Amino acid sequence: GGRADIDLALFGALGDLSQRKLFPALYQLDREGLLDNRTRLLGLARQELDIDGFKAKVEAALKTYVKAEEQDRAALKRFLARLDYRQLDFTSVEGYAAIRDWRQEGLERPMVVYLAVGASLYGDICRHLEASGSLDEASRVVVEKPIGFDLDSSNEINDAIGAVFPESRTYRIDHYLGKETVQNLIAMRFANPLFGTQWNQNHISHVEITVAEQVGIEGRWGYFDQAGQLRDMVQNHLLQLVCLIAMDPPANLDADAIRDEKVKVLKALRPFTDDMLGRDVVRGQYVAGTINGKSVPGYLEEEGANTESHTESFVAMKTGVENWRWAGVPFYLRTGKRMPEKLSQIVIHFRQQPHYIFDPDQRGLAANKLVIRLQPEEGIALEVLTKDSGLDKGMRLRRGPLHLDFNSAFPKSRIPDAYERLLLEVMKGQQYLFVRRDEVEHAWRWCDSLIAAWEDRDEAPRRYPAGSWGPVASIAMITQDGRSWYEDY
Ligand code: BG6
Repeated sequence: GGRADIDLALFGALGDLSQRKLFPALYQLDREGLLDNRTRLLGLARQELDIDGFKAKVEAALKTYVKAEEQDRAALKRFLARLDYRQLDFTSVEGYAAIRDWRQEGLERPMVVYLAVGASLYGDICRHLEASGSLDEASRVVVEKPIGFDLDSSNEINDAIGAVFPESRTYRIDHYLGKETVQNLIAMRFANPLFGTQWNQNHISHVEITVAEQVGIEGRWGYFDQAGQLRDMVQNHLLQLVCLIAMDPPANLDADAIRDEKVKVLKALRPFTDDMLGRDVVRGQYVAGTINGKSVPGYLEEEGANTESHTESFVAMKTGVENWRWAGVPFYLRTGKRMPEKLSQIVIHFRQQPHYIFDPDQRGLAANKLVIRLQPEEGIALEVLTKDSGLDKGMRLRRGPLHLDFNSAFPKSRIPDAYERLLLEVMKGQQYLFVRRDEVEHAWRWCDSLIAAWEDRDEAPRRYPAGSWGPVASIAMITQDGRSWYEDY
């Protein structure tokens, strides 16, 4: 409980993330009465702008990105009154005195510094903040992914941050951890004995994670082409989901109790070797196609594209967590841009009953599945088998969901955006939804094993038309095991 009593300095205040996500989230927190009356927000960016010009930009962003029914005149006025703005060249220490001066009014409460800028600037910014005397021993820093593009480069960045901010005041964002249903994985697994007792290789046959995006590269070709879908999505978001599905129960909900268990999962991930490439990993790149009846260009025809690129916009893989709980249970992951719809979902496939007595034709049906939908509509469904009704059906089975749709089950509760939850946790000084340094390292170590194998082969990715579920090879990858991607969307 209680309101968050902090001041926030936001680097990159005119950037896309700030405008689309951070200001709307801060506004929502304010509207819900979660910001202290004294809390102030300082925008920092390169552009020359006076405070009214800045407020006008923030107001325009809120009008665009906050739902009309959640725009409230009084709340907006209160929010805008918290804002201040300084033009700043992030790479030169001179201007930072402005931050120190702004701080003078709020010395009794912590300052949160949010770096909504490229990771190559993190080191400079941290050093200059310290050198200018803007920090004290309560100051916190929030950083965004991607932290580097492999283990070595991420270590460099984390060292530079760590030279100024201790781990206990460093908040690495993975916005998937702010999603409501992702946190629900913890509640579901550890509050429900029904699942708690079944959650291991004795009862689960395999796990499937799909994070499909409809968007393409959205003017970010320069960044994306250096990264690719493995670094952009798997290294962080999908591996965090794997951790929350696979981790052992933590002793309590403390940040380090949870993160210790996540790290154990990352350490137990099966590393990739060269011989797995053809069989267990499929890289794809989209070509022109159709989405919602509209034709869209291929990856190599996007604005700013280099037509030689072998970067993947899709990846599917079969991996595993090599420990007592998960031995022999495949984890099938797939994620891509320009899929037919935006859909993030986890499917836990339970094993069949040891002895089967129904119609032999229906044998393939006979297992429970737990479907956890992260987006678009948050919900959880347990697929169960019941008897088909109808006098002529005998003991025919049919599948049906036991279904929890959050919006209809709890219609009064608004589901907050990931950034609202995450910002609130930073303000309260709680780290359990943030990524600890060793998590980043182990996630990179695993990705690096795959990237190294790819680089040895230097194969072009497989083509898939925009608006499809990825290269056919990604379907073959799972059917070779006698399984298929769950498709009852
Ligand atoms: C970001 C990636 O981290 O996550 C983007 O950089 C991606 O490429 C985005 O589109 C997806 O987030 P969400 O919340 O829309 O699933």
